[in-house]
Amino acid sequence: MKYYKVVTYGCQMNEHESEKLCGILENLNLIKTDDDSLADVIVFNTCTIRENAERRAYGNIGALKKLKRDNKEKIIAVGGCLPQQSGKAEDLKEKFPFIDIIFGTHNLSEFESILKKRLDTGKKLIEISRDEYKMPCSVPVKRSTYPSAYVNVMYGCNNFCTYCIVPYVRGRERSRTPEEIVIEVENLIKNGYKEITLLGQNVDSYGKDLSPKVDFSDLLKMVARIEGKFRLRFMSNHPKDVNLKLAQTIRDNDKICNCIHFPVQSGSTEVLALMNRRYTRKEYLDKIKMLRRTVKDIAITTDIMVGFPRESEKNFKDSLTLLNKVKYDGAFTFVYSKRSGTKAYEMDGHIDEEVKKQRIVKLVALQNKINKKLAKKYVGKTVEVLVDEFNEDCGYYMGRDERGKAIHFSSKTDVVGQFLDVKITKADGISIYGEIV
Ligand code: SAH
Ligand code: SF4
Ligand code: F3S
Repeated sequence: MKYYKVVTYGCQMNEHESEKLCGILENLNLIKTDDDSLADVIVFNTCTIRENAERRAYGNIGALKKLKRDNKEKIIAVGGCLPQQSGKAEDLKEKFPFIDIIFGTHNLSEFESILKKRLDTGKKLIEISRDEYKMPCSVPVKRSTYPSAYVNVMYGCNNFCTYCIVPYVRGRERSRTPEEIVIEVENLIKNGYKEITLLGQNVDSYGKDLSPKVDFSDLLKMVARIEGKFRLRFMSNHPKDVNLKLAQTIRDNDKICNCIHFPVQSGSTEVLALMNRRYTRKEYLDKIKMLRRTVKDIAITTDIMVGFPRESEKNFKDSLTLLNKVKYDGAFTFVYSKRSGTKAYEMDGHIDEEVKKQRIVKLVALQNKINKKLAKKYVGKTVEVLVDEFNEDCGYYMGRDERGKAIHFSSKTDVVGQFLDVKITKADGISIYGEIV
């Protein structure tokens, strides 16, 4: 065995877990490739948040049938949230009998031994553990996002929003200790990383399961005290739990970026109740006010979906008016997708696909308009960016300011990983361009 490939489908957590799968495989002296025919081991790190994520994984796995037939030695493994979902591992096995290994989110830390078992015995394996306490904390990581790095602070979710599959495939909330997190971040900073993103499904619940309890703002302060120049980000927050202490912590610590991902899901109090979000439109808007009052020029981004069961035309309009009112710095827009096993799946009043389509088009168009307006406001400002990458297609470097805005600019020398001041010269649609000053 010489080459491996890992395919990622989901959220940042999923992306970071792919970095861990890569770490495990490189520890076995395998080399990364993008070429399916060259790879001796192909791992699909799947996601099941919406049907299209699932469909994509099924399509990609199915496409390997011929390669596997021609080369029986090739190992095909399917892991992540999809097989962790009840009934899906069996379904995968039935649809794609050529898969060698099926493993769940809770089995990531054992991937090396599972792979070895497959190689030793030659037998196909399904390893889906319900023991969520096997957290993949001490697994080698092959990072692919320099100068940024992801750090898990907690796993799982207890919120059970009625549309969401995550609590079923990720288990209950459990936190890493602050000591462990601080050590990981210290090492990353020593190794030249310039931006740390703390990850959890709902970081505001961090530390509630530890004894003594630690709250998320206190964890942020501990991490922000680490020496060196770096940026600290985190996601996601749950609006029901965001409080003044968090806002003050963001305000009072230079390293903590002035931005927050603040997923609203719907602008309608009625729909929010059906979603079990545990806040009203007014409570949500009050927290936006609190954040903006406390942290000057804070960037706020969101997740919002259309077509939740029973969403009326009026409820949908409430989402449009909310977008117009808040003017988010960015919004991830989704079409509600039925997930079996969730409460919403069983609800009546599912919305016609055509209606969902019309709503998402309107929602996206409105947010695009807002994005363009906000981008224009940047022109003339000078901002400090951390340079993420060079984009060969457009010939520009791309960096982000502390508010998370992507800014494109030219440079004759390689500046990836540097902090630079960039003066914004042009906002072309939603893309922003500048010059190093
Ligand atoms: N824990 C995070 C991320 C959850 S998944 C959070 O709570 O913010 C990311 C986003 O996917 C969610 O915020 C939601 O907007 C969307 N999502 C989740 N389930 C969905 C479903 N069944 N259909 C459509 N979008 C969904
Ligand atoms: Fe899903 Fe809600 Fe948990 Fe986020 S908070 S992962 S949307 S159940
Ligand atoms: Fe993430 Fe998808 Fe799982 S969004 S938590 S990889 S279902």
